[in-house]
Amino acid sequence: MYEPVAHALLNEILDELSHQVVREDLRHFYTRLGANFYAIYSLFSHLYGQRQDFKPQIIHLTERLARAYIARPERLRQLDTEREKNHDWFISQEWVGMAIYLNGFAGNLNGLLERLPYLQELGINVIHVMPILRCPRGASDGGYAVSDFRDIDPRVGTLSEIQTLAEVMQSYGMLLTLDVVVNHTSNEHEWAQAACAGHAVYQDFYYLFPTRDVPDMFEKTLPEIFPENAPGNFTWVPEINQWAMTVFNNYQWDLKYSNPAVFIEMLDVILFWANQGADILRLDAVAFLWKKIGTASQNEREAHLILQLMKDCCQVVAPGTLFIAEAIVAPSEIIKYFGEDAVIAKECEIAYNATFMALLWDAVATKNARLLNRGIKSLPSKLDRATWLNYLRCHDDIGLGFDDADIRACGYEPYAHRHFLVEWFTGVFEDSPASGRPFGVNAKTGDARIVGTLASLVGLETARQANDEPAISQAIALILTLHAMILSFGGIPLLWYGDEGGTCNDYSFLEDDNKSNDTRWLHRPYIDWTQVERRHDSGTIEQQLFDGLKRMIAIRKNIQVFADFNNRELIDVPNPHLFVFLRSHPSVIANSVLVIANFDTKPQHLALADLSTNARAIFRYGQVQDLISNMAPALFNEVLIIPPCHFYWLSGQSSNRLT
Ligand code: GLC
Ligand code: GLC
Repeated sequence: MYEPVAHALLNEILDELSHQVVREDLRHFYTRLGANFYAIYSLFSHLYGQRQDFKPQIIHLTERLARAYIARPERLRQLDTEREKNHDWFISQEWVGMAIYLNGFAGNLNGLLERLPYLQELGINVIHVMPILRCPRGASDGGYAVSDFRDIDPRVGTLSEIQTLAEVMQSYGMLLTLDVVVNHTSNEHEWAQAACAGHAVYQDFYYLFPTRDVPDMFEKTLPEIFPENAPGNFTWVPEINQWAMTVFNNYQWDLKYSNPAVFIEMLDVILFWANQGADILRLDAVAFLWKKIGTASQNEREAHLILQLMKDCCQVVAPGTLFIAEAIVAPSEIIKYFGEDAVIAKECEIAYNATFMALLWDAVATKNARLLNRGIKSLPSKLDRATWLNYLRCHDDIGLGFDDADIRACGYEPYAHRHFLVEWFTGVFEDSPASGRPFGVNAKTGDARIVGTLASLVGLETARQANDEPAISQAIALILTLHAMILSFGGIPLLWYGDEGGTCNDYSFLEDDNKSNDTRWLHRPYIDWTQVERRHDSGTIEQQLFDGLKRMIAIRKNIQVFADFNNRELIDVPNPHLFVFLRSHPSVIANSVLVIANFDTKPQHLALADLSTNARAIFRYGQVQDLISNMAPALFNEVLIIPPCHFYWLSGQSSNRLT
């Protein structure tokens, strides 16, 4: 958009830049800056327009953009232009991801290079390497307390090794995802250290208060994220006699985005990692970026403006780089992290589908899909050029953030239902085979979350210990069915390392003082690679899981309707144990795939007459087959039979089949 004030300012800035910056071909930079400048200017003035130093700050911001563009390697600039031409590239069904803790999975960066063939064997082509930046040697919240945003933790490697990794991955057609922990730094970061030493400029990077007045006001409405380990949201800093805002752990200081210098520095960090070759940046804890007294200080409008500004600036320098929003919040709020009122994501192209994840776990515990169906119905549809990250487990806990109204509509009482889920997954409930643990138990509110590996949560750990073959088979079926859901729902599936081999809880964290009080370490395992080798031995648990997943991944990549074009029809069926949806091509119904999952431990049935017209249509094209088994599903007098904990991917089209 053309707007005279912004345009005049842009001319002034460009004039200045042409004196300072080396002359090289900045054509792409200038066209993108021209296209985005009005948006950048408006957002920046929304956030910082009332400040005296507004103009020097926006000049500074633009100069940083130019410098980051100049530093961008040619290889990545080319990738930018390719991706601009094919701007839907990440919506494709061809992407399948895995998130890993480097030390647990491969030891270090060089180890990961050696493990790439293993990931390729499974079909993984997006890798999220969990935080590997310099962090405190003691507790570091699994690397989420960053001490230097531009340096790799020497325990895992060097900056040049990550550049090599990025290049090798690109040559293999794999995408690299890295975290940018935008909300806070560790108390060992040089900004925090300078603040402690009394430097006013850096004290203004954080929320610091000399008395309890403001902190006490905040505390009235701020929830506690880690009520057991880090109660309260402020930490006393004796060096300067002030309270620092620390929403997460007491060594994680929240950054003050009301200071434009903080925004500019953090944007520079984002661009730095884009320039190191990260294809996707996971922006951590984005819901928390703006604090306001009298609110929960999550999902504030300004947090969204900051993300929009980050996106607009990143598009000028590194338009091929995508953002993932890590906002584990209510469904109606999550969707806003794509950016509202637009077809194209104005904030993050990808968001964690925490709603789907938690609902799947509800279906596991209740053995029915009532809340799952209800909750998915309430999930607003996403923008066209945006997609979900669908996952079952990750490095964090499972929160039970369902909508209370949805829980009630299913005939449960919200408090009792959540209590049941915690009891189920921690194995307290009678007959539950799960061996998870509680996390984030808050005595004041009665809230609790759940931790544990996927295998342990579905009962594989218990079944293995008891050598109970039928229970082992059931757990395997359930693990595969759950993965089939994230592989077919629409979005990028993100597996958690270890789940592909049925890795159970890892209790070794209990021996480490820096970890023992945070049960999330239970599901951040050290992989036993001799056990992984058993995937080559027919009939082992590892082989059944690995080969099952490998096949599903290969099939997914071949099925065009699994790409995420808002092409999912949720089908309400009378049998509450079933979750049923149709993925279809807008014009070619014959290519549709009907997905049916049975969450019960008994076989269930579904009359074809209960399907929607579109879903019934696939049965019109000759023999319907399950894409996984290449066989017709059990059908008795127009009634489908779905085995316990089993799923179908049904297609009427022979071209969908992978042999
Ligand atoms: C995110 C991370 C989590 C971390 C928190 C604070 O939620 O996923 O592991 O504890 O941010 O950085
Ligand atoms: C983030 C998430 C929350 C999670 C926490 C870390 O704040 O929003 O759900 O529990 O990180 O565990």
